[in-house]
Amino acid sequence: MKQVVIDAFNAQIAKERDASVVYESLSFWCAASDYPGFAEFFAKQAAEERTHAEKLAKHMLDRGARPVLGALAAPPSQFDSLTDIAKAALAHEESNTRGVVETLEAAKAAGDYAACNLLAWFVNEQVEEEVWANRMVVLVGRATCAGSLYAVDRHIVADLTGKKD
Ligand SMILES: [Fe+2]
Ligand SMILES: [Fe+2]
Repeated sequence: MKQVVIDAFNAQIAKERDASVVYESLSFWCAASDYPGFAEFFAKQAAEERTHAEKLAKHMLDRGARPVLGALAAPPSQFDSLTDIAKAALAHEESNTRGVVETLEAAKAAGDYAACNLLAWFVNEQVEEEVWANRMVVLVGRATCAGSLYAVDRHIVADLTGKKD
């Protein structure tokens, strides 16, 4: 792999690991605020973001390049409401999408077709990620009383993952 692509992969690995820690923080806030459904959803997302970082790292290792990990910033931990939480998640996914596109552009410019193929999966994945994040913002925005927030929390995992509850 060319150094410029290795650098882009390392930067994207940092973004995926950052997303994982941010979602873990969102999960803890939700659990502590008695929203067990949201807490479960974000715990699953945190685990998923970790697998994204691992997917990029495996590709590098398969091709004889060594992933290098950096320090992670402390995630945000203070939120006023589930609206704040949903908006933070959406902003994070949008930023991750930009990261994926930048990584793909670096791979494309370097003529690295193997990396481009791997990153095509990430492009598709980001479409799905923005779907749930946008839907979460809508669902939380519609819930205007404690009772409706309770109902959203109770069904959020099923709603966003398509799983029956
Ligand atoms: Fe991701
Ligand atoms: Fe994501």
